[in-house]
Amino acid sequence: MKKSELTAAEKRKLVMGMNSWSNDDLDGKIYRFRMADGPIGLRTPIDPDDESKGIRPSTVYPSAQTLSHTWEPECAEKMGEAIANDCIEAGVDIILGPAVNIKRLPTCGRNFEYYSEDPILAGRLAAAYINGVQKCHVGTSMKHFCCNNTEYARLFCSSEVDERTLREIYLKPFEIAAKAKPWTTMCSYNLVNGTLMSENKELFRVLREEFGFDGLIESDWTAVRRTANSVNAGLDLEMPHHESRAAQFEEDYAAGIVDETMLDTAAGRVLDLAEKCEAESKLRKITMTEEERKALALRIAEDGIVLLKNDDGLLPLHGEKIMITGAPERKLFYGGGSARVTPDGDYVRLSRALADLGCDVCYRESTREPVGGQICMNGSAISCREELKNRDVAIIEVGDDSSCETEGRDRQTIRLTKEEESVIHYLSAFCDKVIVVVYAGSAVDMSPWIDEVSAVVWAGFGGQRGNEALANVLTGRTNPSGKLTETFPLRFEDIPAANAYIDPETVCYEEGLMVGYRYFETRKKPVLFPFGYGLSYSSFIYSDLKTETDGKTVTASFTITNTSDVDGKEIAQLYVSGFSPEKDRPRRELKGFTKVTVPAHESVRTSISFTVDDLKTFSVKKGSWMPCKDAFAVEIGPNCHEIALKAKIKK
Ligand code: GLC
Repeated sequence: MKKSELTAAEKRKLVMGMNSWSNDDLDGKIYRFRMADGPIGLRTPIDPDDESKGIRPSTVYPSAQTLSHTWEPECAEKMGEAIANDCIEAGVDIILGPAVNIKRLPTCGRNFEYYSEDPILAGRLAAAYINGVQKCHVGTSMKHFCCNNTEYARLFCSSEVDERTLREIYLKPFEIAAKAKPWTTMCSYNLVNGTLMSENKELFRVLREEFGFDGLIESDWTAVRRTANSVNAGLDLEMPHHESRAAQFEEDYAAGIVDETMLDTAAGRVLDLAEKCEAESKLRKITMTEEERKALALRIAEDGIVLLKNDDGLLPLHGEKIMITGAPERKLFYGGGSARVTPDGDYVRLSRALADLGCDVCYRESTREPVGGQICMNGSAISCREELKNRDVAIIEVGDDSSCETEGRDRQTIRLTKEEESVIHYLSAFCDKVIVVVYAGSAVDMSPWIDEVSAVVWAGFGGQRGNEALANVLTGRTNPSGKLTETFPLRFEDIPAANAYIDPETVCYEEGLMVGYRYFETRKKPVLFPFGYGLSYSSFIYSDLKTETDGKTVTASFTITNTSDVDGKEIAQLYVSGFSPEKDRPRRELKGFTKVTVPAHESVRTSISFTVDDLKTFSVKKGSWMPCKDAFAVEIGPNCHEIALKAKIKK
């Protein structure tokens, strides 16, 4: 069907969804594409026309946070491919992901769905995910455009952000990901500088004209207040269908307040997307078996685990008798909301996974299921203490389940519950080999108890194969290599964005560019764990930095030596400092990274490149991007705080 054949009434139908998941197919005249959540696994109704039949079970992949800890765009691409395969089997045309919002503060309920506090890392992982999905002829929706950085008052809060910060931090991941040509972009609920994102003509212009996005812009679900205003601003598709807004739209159209050209353009894009989905659907074929997808879920969960503390090399375990306690032992701890996937397999408890590897392990209860976000301690911590008299090691599982980390609300605190902290204090008082395993989707304040335990392992939200991955890491079958992609502060109050909860209608991004490590490194503030931090069973040293430039691209080559007896993988990061003519800039900013496998007692030569264009900074005065200075410094190391190698560059 051609756009020219559409009647005016049909155009008005096209710019609003038909139900919760599809476009209006004009009574079968055009293809009805089907969309489904979510970025970290397929969450779709068994019957999109009758949601009472429930959610179709599917693979619960590791969360976006866990994926980001691999620092591997290849992993993101592979996860995209796997999810696309799940979509193909379910008849879904577009997966509503990736979610690329910046982690401005650790309490945001949806941080488990987001990649990082750093825009370069977030953008590159998102672009890879988009490529992985779309190479299977399934579409994506880059979301939530933009500045949806808390859940607290997302439906009506205005994110007040200066232009430089907007460009360099909050729009940057969308700019990078747009180059992967996502079929759609989803606008967010919130306002930006006083304008609803579903009516934000200027930011839609930036997305299209400056970022080169040529797909369809859809709203987040019910993010539209008045259809006519959104259509006039350049929104193409309002989701989902809404009777009263449709009626208002008819009135507005009759009153002549709908811009006909904008309506025509929007309807044309919906038509184009329907035709694209129909054509692409004929090319789809399964490229990964179910087993391969499950194996990938395990692999990403393993490489997304971060070893945060390992005193006296307690880990990996070597035959110790283990006691496990903690609520995550009894159910899958995962984030809530539209990203929550119904697992298609049984939950493998950590005790089971360890026993399957031949470990002598038992479980003793000390806390009960979370009740309304609180994990309740029961009196059986005493039985844990008795049991520990016959055990060598205690593994205490702690963390947030969907009552804590979820869409629609933020965490009240980044500390564990009092009950969990009590169990750690209590058991550490008479067991000198305590390993705390954290199942959560965003930074946790561990400062009240971390000095009392020997080891801390960040399990994250590892998905339905997370505990098998964890067992492999705890027993040394897998050498942990994951690194943090968000700062873990000593206290929530140390975060400059802690002002996010003062006024539900306005949140001022006063910290500007000083988000995450940009703040802590520049102001030399201590943190619990810095951005890019993660231990391994191996130990690495960096040496012999050489740099070269052709005036456009800078390449830093260096050597990583594994001084341990264990083969390992190391994520090296490249930061640049002193590149902007402006004074009030972050001390250093990530501009590249690489992950190398280094066999025990061997060295590997590797390199990271970036372009001088990557060093452009946005001038508010000029309203444009400025080239970097002629000279700047390249800094390379295992995380943003430990710089192992440094070189001055003259471009
Ligand atoms: C939700 C979420 C969005 C999701 C959509 C459909 O409100 O914000 O991420 O894709 O609606 O469920």
